[in-house]
Amino acid sequence: MKRINRIFIELSVFIIDLLYQDRYFQRFWVLETIARAPYFSFLSVLHFRESLGLRGKSHLYLMEEHFKQSVNETEHLEVMESRGGNFFWIDRVFAYHLVLIYYWLMVGYYLVAPALAYDLNVCIEEHAVKTYRHYLEDVDFTDEQIIQILNDEQSHVKELKNAQALIAY
Ligand SMILES: [Fe+2]
Ligand SMILES: [Fe+2]
Repeated sequence: MKRINRIFIELSVFIIDLLYQDRYFQRFWVLETIARAPYFSFLSVLHFRESLGLRGKSHLYLMEEHFKQSVNETEHLEVMESRGGNFFWIDRVFAYHLVLIYYWLMVGYYLVAPALAYDLNVCIEEHAVKTYRHYLEDVDFTDEQIIQILNDEQSHVKELKNAQALIAY
C-alpha cells in the first residue's frame, strides 16, 4: 500500500509540475491548497470518532497537532495569495476541484487506515520541502518567507511521522 501511496504522489506531482513549469507562486498556491486539506480531513474524522465515544489515547494530542498544522498551512496559503498565486481563475478552478476530491479521499483513507493516510501525507510534505528548496536554490536563496515555509514543512514531516508512530501502539 505504501508503494501505491508513492506512485499516486509521483503521478500527481508529475502532472502539476508539467502544468506549472516556471509559474512558481501559482504552483505553490495550488500545492498549499491541496496540502492543507488532509489536516481538515484528520480533524473531521477525529471529531467523528469522538462523537461516537471512540476517543483513543492520543486523541487530544492529535487534535491539537492537526489544528496547529491547518492554521500554519493557511498562513502559507496567505503568503502565496499575497504573491499572486490565486490571481488567475483557471488556477482557482483547478485547485478547488482537486481539493474537493482530495479532502473526501483523505476522510475515507484516515477513517479506515490512519497510518497509511499519514504515510501519504508525509510524502506530500516531503515533496513540499523539495519544492521550496529548489526555489531557494534556483531562484532566490534570500527569500525569508520561503525559508520560513520550508522550515515549517520540515516540521510537518516530523510531526506526521510522530503521529504515525503514536497510533501504531
Ligand atoms: Fe504549507
Ligand atoms: Fe505542510
